[in-house]
Amino acid sequence: MNEFIQGLPKVELHLHIEGTLEPELMFELAERNNIVIPFASPQAVRDAYQFHNLQSFLDIYYQGANVLITEQDFFDLTWAYLLRCKQDNVLHTEIFFDPQTHTERGIAFDTVIGGITRALEQANTQLGITSQLIMCFLRHLDEDDAFKTLALAMPYKDKIIAVGLDSSELGHPPEKFARVFRAAKEAGFLTVSHAGEEGPAQNIHDTIELLGVSRIDHGVRCVEDKALVQQLAESRMPLTVCPLSNIKLKVFDTMRQHNIVELLEAGLCVTINSDDPAYFGGYMTDNFVAVANAHPLTPAQLAQFTLNAIEASFIDSARKEALT
Ligand code: HPA
Ligand code: ZN
Repeated sequence: MNEFIQGLPKVELHLHIEGTLEPELMFELAERNNIVIPFASPQAVRDAYQFHNLQSFLDIYYQGANVLITEQDFFDLTWAYLLRCKQDNVLHTEIFFDPQTHTERGIAFDTVIGGITRALEQANTQLGITSQLIMCFLRHLDEDDAFKTLALAMPYKDKIIAVGLDSSELGHPPEKFARVFRAAKEAGFLTVSHAGEEGPAQNIHDTIELLGVSRIDHGVRCVEDKALVQQLAESRMPLTVCPLSNIKLKVFDTMRQHNIVELLEAGLCVTINSDDPAYFGGYMTDNFVAVANAHPLTPAQLAQFTLNAIEASFIDSARKEALT
């Protein structure tokens, strides 16, 4: 089964590029940029990755991103992830980036997007991997900051397919960003948003109603509202589920208790994704294997996750046909 999973073509739709920063690269960039990090070795960094909820992860994750300074740093980060995509037979990937994590530290928007897109272009020509870029607003920051970030993105509209919403879900409900999402849609961006990871099913409902999203990122708490589950199945609203992330952040106690297979069998457009693989202990193949080890799944069901991801993706129609 592991060999089948390894070879299975994959499409990733929920991946934070800052979450692919492996401890070894963190050390290399810290040295290159003369930044002191509070760890003695890459292993000490790994040992510190013990999370009890989303916030305990976010605190460490934003700290890790401090080593990213130059355009080359963002290129190296993105390129390392794309090489992992090649290894895992990921043919297409849609990548989140969090500009506010960097602009807040005085790093120019252009530096961030320049390094990322240079790597994406190189992956297209050298590895045959296609991609899209999604700009996320940090929901713990205010609406005004999101509007300023949207303004910064305007000159790069041709490089960004959609806007998204990530960071602390509890205390920062979707309605806080209804106006900025409306403005983003009017400017031609598609929209997606994290919802129903730690927050209640109501957040998923409100995210669909108020933010006009094409996909829900996570969404696993939908099961708390049976009518919502039915609506998600009927509308084929995609959920970009991240199994290893959900275990690491204690959304579920064990992979056996994870509801992804229940959702697949209920006819929802669920997909498997890695979220922040450097922090959660696994890339795409690892996530598929972890689900398959905990749940009896047929090869057809495993392939259905990829078919769902193709359906849910922002791939242009010619490439979509080539992949299906
Ligand atoms: N949830 C919210 N914010 C995030 C995540 C996540 O899983 N990963 C990176 N930022
Ligand atoms: Zn995420």
